[in-house]
Amino acid sequence: MSTTVSLVDELEQLERNAQAELGTLNDEAALEEWRVRVLGRKGTLATLLGGLGRLAADERPAAGQAANRVKTVLESAFGERQAQLRAAGRTQQLEAERIDVTLPARGYRRGQEHPITRIRREVEDVFKRLSFSVVEGPEVEWDHYNFTLLNIPPDHPARDIQDTFYVAGSDAEGPGGSRGVVLRTHTSPVQIRTMLAQRPPIRVIVPGKVYRNEATDASHEAMFTQVEGLCVDEHTTMGDLRGSLTFMIRSLFGQEREVRFRCGYFPFVEPGAEFDMSCHVCGGNGCRTCKQTGWIEIGGCGMVHPKVLEAVEIDPARYTGWAFGFGFERMALLKYGVDDIRLFYTNDLRFLKQFR
Ligand code: PHE
Repeated sequence: MSTTVSLVDELEQLERNAQAELGTLNDEAALEEWRVRVLGRKGTLATLLGGLGRLAADERPAAGQAANRVKTVLESAFGERQAQLRAAGRTQQLEAERIDVTLPARGYRRGQEHPITRIRREVEDVFKRLSFSVVEGPEVEWDHYNFTLLNIPPDHPARDIQDTFYVAGSDAEGPGGSRGVVLRTHTSPVQIRTMLAQRPPIRVIVPGKVYRNEATDASHEAMFTQVEGLCVDEHTTMGDLRGSLTFMIRSLFGQEREVRFRCGYFPFVEPGAEFDMSCHVCGGNGCRTCKQTGWIEIGGCGMVHPKVLEAVEIDPARYTGWAFGFGFERMALLKYGVDDIRLFYTNDLRFLKQFR
């Protein structure tokens, strides 16, 4: 066998082996190692080419051609493999960074109305239908508006009915030269403010927080939410008061409910009454909720005292007025069958979520 033949054989063998090996390489480092080992300056191909010089002159061209061909083939095979690996790398990266834009968005949790807010809205809606407006006022209030103008003068024993938080050190001069600031014990002072600012006919309801120095238990909180209503007009009567309250109670607790008035004392009304509704649990037959009486006490009401009208310069000879007040918490306790008023203010989501 001539030297040429064996050199050409060796070149072809290198071509096959190196190409086969190339196909098994899976990363750039291995590829580079292969390139140096096969095609590098001191690599296998270069070593074989070194043998060309030892060939006879007429054998050189064939061997040289074979060497060039193998070199070109291996170089392009290298290039191809490198491109393949790079493409695969890119795909892998794309795969790793993939985001699925078709996935539905992560849901967010919707809030909901607090049960007291819900009752408040229901009551507001009822009175809006009777053409009342909703008005609000300050929770920190002049003693003068909270008591005096409501026919509860300083040192009058009627003040003892409401255990009041007085704001200490507030001896600023208030309206009418009065002194004293309190956390309002009812929303009635807003009715005073309304009557001072507006002439009859007046139809307002006044929802809001009120404060009393109560020992907290299942049915008492030092802060609670009240709504009071006021109507002042010519010829308006206790019948209108009763009709409006009946309309409200029936809207909230069902058309079968009855309303009754019992005599009650509030310094700012005359006559005054407490109003009850027939029990929505037993229908009036007597049960645990109504303590076997068939009736449930809801709030207070009455005809605005002439002295109160006079105090806000509305002529009691021309105008009459009626008013009522009750607490939302009590109404929510009854309507939703809750047994502890404190649950409304402890912010326990397990409790609040039940009112969807
Ligand atoms: N202001 C009274 C209270 O909070 C409620 C009430 C309002 C009573 C209107 C009669 C008339 O106790």
